[in-house]
Amino acid sequence: MTSAAELLDLATDIAREAGELARTRRAEGVTVAATKSALADIVTEADREVEALIRSRVAAARPDDGFLGEESGGSAPDAEITWVVDPIDGTVNYAYGLPAWAVSIAAVAGSADPQEWEALAAVVYAPAIGEVFAAARGSGAFLDGRQIHVNAEVGPAGALVATGFGYDPATHAGTLAQIARVMPIARDLRRGGAASLDLSYVAAGRLDAYYERGLQPWDHAAGALLVTEAGGVVSGAPGGRPGRAMTIAAAPPVYDRLVDLLEF
Ligand code: IPD
Ligand code: CA
Repeated sequence: MTSAAELLDLATDIAREAGELARTRRAEGVTVAATKSALADIVTEADREVEALIRSRVAAARPDDGFLGEESGGSAPDAEITWVVDPIDGTVNYAYGLPAWAVSIAAVAGSADPQEWEALAAVVYAPAIGEVFAAARGSGAFLDGRQIHVNAEVGPAGALVATGFGYDPATHAGTLAQIARVMPIARDLRRGGAASLDLSYVAAGRLDAYYERGLQPWDHAAGALLVTEAGGVVSGAPGGRPGRAMTIAAAPPVYDRLVDLLEF
């Protein structure tokens, strides 16, 4: 069986190449190709082209592996290893020219289902910022080669908390009510617009916590491994795996209090 470190090397090479393609396309000008689940949920030509590049690189290097991508769906669901890919996470930022977007690639074992898989390797590459977050299972999490850790303590002003609004407008009132409950423990709130980077920033101690409902497998596959390898806690609703109903990632001193306030 291939080691997690070998999978990470491949994921990193592919993410860098994909990120450069996305950056080139961004400089040439972005066109929205279609809307998906809602008017605000867009896909650009670049999302499709970048995912096709990643898919072809994975297929060339590891033809027996499975693939699950945001734009092109799944293949070989029973493969030993599956590559879970968001070619451009933070597409709305990308379309508006904000820098918080990333290529997110994870290699997972066991199942293509986030309720069951075991993530082995993860890369989140933010080309417009120039940062690579990387983790291999059991080997820690790294930002540009330097090991990162979640925050060990939260200061008296409270936690820096990030969240997101899913594309489904019907969920927004509930999300706003949750924010009102969380604010008493927050020094401030962030809405970055790219779930993979929110998770990476919890891993790096740039945020104390992040939570969001409505995430898809490719939004959290890589970022969740980064957080656990950096010493953080990741879950869905308490006790469960991250998923559409809820994803919570936090430094240990914040996690229990945040879960209480989210009220499951
Ligand atoms: C979205 C971003 C956003 C989050 C949404 C995701 P996309 O991914 O991660 O921060 O709030 O739930 O769908 O559509 O830009 O790949
Ligand atoms: Ca995306």
